[in-house]
Amino acid sequence: MKISLQVNGVDHALEIADENMPLLWVVRDILNLKGTKFGCGKAACGACTLHVDGEAVRSCSYAVKFAMNKKITTIEGLGNEQNPHPVQKAWVEHVVPQCGYCQPGFMMAIAALLSKDPNPSDEEIDKNIINVCRCATYYRMRKAIHRAGELTRENLTNETTSS
Ligand code: FES
Ligand code: FES
Repeated sequence: MKISLQVNGVDHALEIADENMPLLWVVRDILNLKGTKFGCGKAACGACTLHVDGEAVRSCSYAVKFAMNKKITTIEGLGNEQNPHPVQKAWVEHVVPQCGYCQPGFMMAIAALLSKDPNPSDEEIDKNIINVCRCATYYRMRKAIHRAGELTRENLTNETTSS
């Protein structure tokens, strides 16, 4: 069957065998966007997190049919070198990753959280960010989340004063 997907601002017309195929398969194996990772394959670890219409989604357990006509963003589309997302800036400042495998999923989950609440408390972070990092980078990540929130709030203030 044919499906249309918009990924990182680019429209794709794709031929797929099964509309129930996980979105992760499409992103990684058909579109060759390898930043989104496969971990547990059962919605438990968060390594496969990306955004569908701005919401964090565990794409290993999300059928591609639900993503049709929606905006998908992967870690490759979160920001770029010239214009990094606040989460990316904060991650560099705090040198968060160790092996790095889980990090795209965390960053996408955190970017989704900050888009709704740019000043989350530790309790809100604990409630919303339930991904797993086997290298246990949680301590650096916590500091980086608060820094990313600060950068997000600065951006919002700049947008308000310049409009
Ligand atoms: S690979 Fe999707 S949640 Fe673990
Ligand atoms: S940095 Fe290695 S699993 Fe998280």
